[in-house]
Amino acid sequence: MAFSARPPSSDRRPDFDSRRVRLIAAAIRAGQASADVAFDAAFPVELRDVSAHYWTPVRVVRLAATWLRETRARTVIDIGSGAGKFCVAAALLTRCRFTGLEHRASLVSAARDLAVTFGVADRVTFVYGGIEAAGTMDAEAYYLFNPFGEYTFSSARFADPDVTFSTGSQQRDIAATAALLSRARPGTFVITYNGFGGSVPQSYEQIDVATRLPGTLRLWKKREDGVS
Ligand SMILES: C[S@@+](CC[C@H](N)C(=O)[O-])C[C@H]1O[C@@H](n2cnc3c(N)ncnc32)[C@H](O)[C@@H]1O
Repeated sequence: MAFSARPPSSDRRPDFDSRRVRLIAAAIRAGQASADVAFDAAFPVELRDVSAHYWTPVRVVRLAATWLRETRARTVIDIGSGAGKFCVAAALLTRCRFTGLEHRASLVSAARDLAVTFGVADRVTFVYGGIEAAGTMDAEAYYLFNPFGEYTFSSARFADPDVTFSTGSQQRDIAATAALLSRARPGTFVITYNGFGGSVPQSYEQIDVATRLPGTLRLWKKREDGVS
């Protein structure tokens, strides 16, 4: 799959000034119920409408960010980064560097705009490509929110007709992800939200789990003696 060299747009939205961004970050940190609505207002309406189903809720980002701070991970790859909600919201709560990998060009573009809007584009990068591109990247932690389901957009702007879904490609992507995690260095962290369709390799141990969220969030660590 080709990579886009398109740079992020440099214009911040005038209605998202630094005060508004600070207030949204504070609302996420405080776990305010209104934080999702406040954050999602930065999306184009078509991406806002699917947010509750397709993008990580801020309550979940909040706990994942706590785990990232506790683990002291400095670099995070979000496989299937969508419109960038996880990477950008987590960047507001941590000092990590995030790379989002996404195979829909329209979402990569929207995610880059989101990072600029929230003033975190210096630490948050979005790459256009499929799971195979993750093999050339390196990170201390991976985030996976059920990336290989079938995601559809009714709007022409986000239709990405070159992206198709089949159970064959889904199974290949799941196997490639398991292989990627098997090759990762000992000590690598993985955070799954509603899994990724496959099993985290046995060389990882689950070190935390949260079930009182809209979905199940798990933290895994590759054992120091973990070979695969
Ligand atoms: C559930 S959404 C999660 C978005 C983001 N991680 C978040 O939590 O805000 C999963 C995303 O994975 C993307 N995706 C699916 N298959 C992919 C693949 N093979 N390579 C890259 N991205 C993929 C989808 O287009 C979708 O945007």
